[in-house]
Amino acid sequence: AILEALGLSERNPGTYLGNGEWSGAGAGAGAGADIEVHNPSNGERLSRVSSASVEDYEALMQRAAQSFAAWRATPAPRRGEAIRLCGEALRRNKDALGSLVSLEMGKIKAEGDGEVQEMVDIADFAVGQSRMLYGLSMHSERPGHRMYEQWHPLGVVGIISAFNFPVAVWAWNAFIAAVCGNVCVWKPSPKTPLSAIAATRLCNEALKAGGFPEVFFLLNDSGTELAQRLVDDKRVALVSFTGSTAVGRQVGVRVAQRMGRSLLELGGNNAIIVDRTADLKLAIPAIVFGAVGTAGQRCTSTRRLIVHESIVDDVVARLSAAYVQVEAHMGDPLTPGVLMGPLIDAAAVRRFEAMVEKAQAAGGRVVSGGRARGGPGHFVLPTLITGVRPDDEVVRTETFAPILYVLPYRTLEEAIAIQNGVPQGLSSAVFTQDLKVSEHFLSSAGSDCGIANVNIGTSGAEIGGAFGGEKETGGGRESGSDAWRAYMRRQTNTINYSDALPLAQGIRFEL
Ligand code: UN1
Repeated sequence: AILEALGLSERNPGTYLGNGEWSGAGAGAGAGADIEVHNPSNGERLSRVSSASVEDYEALMQRAAQSFAAWRATPAPRRGEAIRLCGEALRRNKDALGSLVSLEMGKIKAEGDGEVQEMVDIADFAVGQSRMLYGLSMHSERPGHRMYEQWHPLGVVGIISAFNFPVAVWAWNAFIAAVCGNVCVWKPSPKTPLSAIAATRLCNEALKAGGFPEVFFLLNDSGTELAQRLVDDKRVALVSFTGSTAVGRQVGVRVAQRMGRSLLELGGNNAIIVDRTADLKLAIPAIVFGAVGTAGQRCTSTRRLIVHESIVDDVVARLSAAYVQVEAHMGDPLTPGVLMGPLIDAAAVRRFEAMVEKAQAAGGRVVSGGRARGGPGHFVLPTLITGVRPDDEVVRTETFAPILYVLPYRTLEEAIAIQNGVPQGLSSAVFTQDLKVSEHFLSSAGSDCGIANVNIGTSGAEIGGAFGGEKETGGGRESGSDAWRAYMRRQTNTINYSDALPLAQGIRFEL
């Protein structure tokens, strides 16, 4: 019923070519195998989605170029109106799309709905932004001259997204890119193609009903061949990639090789520092949500807990008690009251198991969880590990699972050094009631992450801020603030309205 509500069936065409046309017989040279979509909470097959062929890819790129010609000529506030219609369609379908995300990806229904809410929020944000694509004006050093800058769209923006936020991350990119005048080609994760099809359909139908050109193209592929084509394609001005650092590194290098632009949102290894003055009534639920929410599969999930040694036993005891509660509320993510769903697939469960084993080999002690639940579905127990050191390989590695490493500290300097001492730099937080601690943490000598919070956990960022991180997280910023600039090219314009031709820097060049 969840699939039907969004026009999906047992086998779905996976490629949206524009003009209401879906390609999906699966025929065509180079089309990969159908994508088999499984329900991660019981392993049953939900549906199949056809892969795009090389011909599909070419047809789509041509349509995208045509669509761009019309779209860039549409005034930006009108483009905002188009995105407003998308936001309205998503509002109306929040329950249906939220349920589909939950069914296909395994996050609990509240989080599936929350993800659609992020899409609605970014649509609202983009509507306002469409009237605020500001450039500066400068004072020319020459008389009778005017100088200013303006921002133009880039063209085709490629979006490669991950399974964990199957629709919201696309919307952050696509809605901002669209009001900036770009058209988008989306290659979603082969683990969550159904949510991508539903979101693409809803938004393009809204555009069409409003008399706008359709600007959201979709490319599903069971393998990586077409994503690689997109990365290497000179017609794609910007590649926005969300995924692992290993793959993101290749994307960054290959796009740079052809002088394209990339926007990278890669791994996080986010920590919460709990200082001795922390209000544990706030800290404990924040830690639990950060570590086990989305079964630890957010790039902002809390993976390291840096606790003052004087309270570490108390914090661990409280967390263990909370983890018992979470364990008792594990299950089908669509069932009300469930707090934690499964991991995405069997491979993710194996990675979880391998990491727990490695942590134990490094001297770690499993305080809670530490194993797969067994039975149908890809469930693992929420896991709390003490006794590892900050520089152990497992602690420095992002594992997309609900594993939290507890690391005691003595001084604030030490805590910040531990927090910063990993290759990733996405999100960070401190719980404290001490102003000095919080200001140190936020200062230039504090957290080195793109996101640094006080008395709030590491995950669940609002769309209004710029989202992204430093170091191996890739350096990109998406979503709010001035992230829109990544989707536009800046042009500096100097206009001479005098009768002379003075050169800059006072240079004289007389014939
Ligand atoms: C991600 O995990 O890829 O801050 C994005 C958060 C969400 C987005 C996470 N708003 O946790």
